[in-house]
Amino acid sequence: MLFERHGRPPLSKEALLNSANFTLSLIPNRLAHRIQSLRNLPFIVVSNPHISEIYNNYLHSLSTLLPYQQRQITSLEEERKFTDVMADLVQTHSNTIPILATGFLECRKYISPAEVTRFLDEHLRARIGTRLIAEQHLALHMSSLSEDSHPPNSNPNYIGVIDMALRPARIVQNCEAFVGEICELKYGVRPTVTINGEPDASFAHVPVHLEYIITELLKNSFRATIESGKEREPIEVTIAAAPDVPQTRLKDTGDGKGSEQGAIKLEFEGMFGSSPPDPAGVIGPINDCKQAITIRIRDRGGGISPEHLPNIWAYSFTTFGDDDVPKADNGNMHALNTISGAGLNGSTIAGLGYGLPLGRAYAEYFGGGIAVQSLWGWGTDVYLTLQGVGKIL
Ligand SMILES: Nc1ncnc2c1ncn2[C@@H]1O[C@H](COP(=O)(O)OP(=O)(O)OP(=O)(O)O)[C@@H](O)[C@H]1O
Ligand SMILES: [Mg+2]
Repeated sequence: MLFERHGRPPLSKEALLNSANFTLSLIPNRLAHRIQSLRNLPFIVVSNPHISEIYNNYLHSLSTLLPYQQRQITSLEEERKFTDVMADLVQTHSNTIPILATGFLECRKYISPAEVTRFLDEHLRARIGTRLIAEQHLALHMSSLSEDSHPPNSNPNYIGVIDMALRPARIVQNCEAFVGEICELKYGVRPTVTINGEPDASFAHVPVHLEYIITELLKNSFRATIESGKEREPIEVTIAAAPDVPQTRLKDTGDGKGSEQGAIKLEFEGMFGSSPPDPAGVIGPINDCKQAITIRIRDRGGGISPEHLPNIWAYSFTTFGDDDVPKADNGNMHALNTISGAGLNGSTIAGLGYGLPLGRAYAEYFGGGIAVQSLWGWGTDVYLTLQGVGKIL
């Protein structure tokens, strides 16, 4: 809907203003809901310096949007200023996850793990949607204005942050290289990945979302593989595409507009509809998605014990550090150390206990999902299903 209405980049002035006004119509409401939800936490929890830092970030972001209250953006100059506000917003909230994780670990005496998971699940899912809306406008802006310092987006397969011809196999290869580096630094070894199935399958999706999920799943498999001494056994990634998924990349048209690819109908009604389906402002998955791709990640890392299996979807549940660090009081000191150490940029192999639940939130955002099948004593199969975010006619 958003992209049907606003078209493919570079956008006309009118389309760019429409995109800005559309973004403006959604973001303040969504920020207000996050503020409300933080306020509903027990007072002692919101008083924690880390949680209150996040709370203040939301207040700050909402206040930067107040000048636009009850107004429309009608000139390119206003659009540029608004885009600066959106860029500031995305930047302000970029480090939210480790800060919240620290805050909730420090507050673990005052709030139960189940309550934390309930709060974080709603909060982080809403955050995925808000960031997507803001980043989509930023990307459309960047790719539309040639006087900008950034070069116009030359990849005709992109519409904003969406790659209309995303090959999951390519993301798996990039993530394998990244996670392999982390393993070499930590363990001195790096397991290998074999990709089979239909590695040429492509569909429309948001590359950064897929990167996040695959990185987390590979980190888990690499760690289990190494810790069980099976690093010689390759991790097998099978890509299975539903029959309507194209097997070849869309041809680049080379004109930067991608208009030769035929009509592209994007089905975003459920996601970007002007009345969010959820009263908390959480954008729901799109209806009637097509083009499912399932990725199975199979490792020989020994599986997950039946004792731990029920907990793997809880935020903060981790077995990392169980062996080498004695548990201090009743809490997870290792996770705090992880965050205060190198853990902020995702360059540690494990430790927060956020990888699976947050990965699943990303997958479910566009109607997909993650299922884990553990063969205790042998290995783990993880099934990641993703729906295309649009249908190429
Ligand atoms: N492929 C796997 N093999 C064995 N155990 C796994 C696998 N994937 C997940 N687990 C178990 O599930 C737990 C939770 O995984 P999750 O990814 O949510 O957190 P984490 O890896 O401990 O920390 P991080 O936040 O860095 O991802 C892990 O600590 C591990 O015990
Ligand atoms: Mg993990």
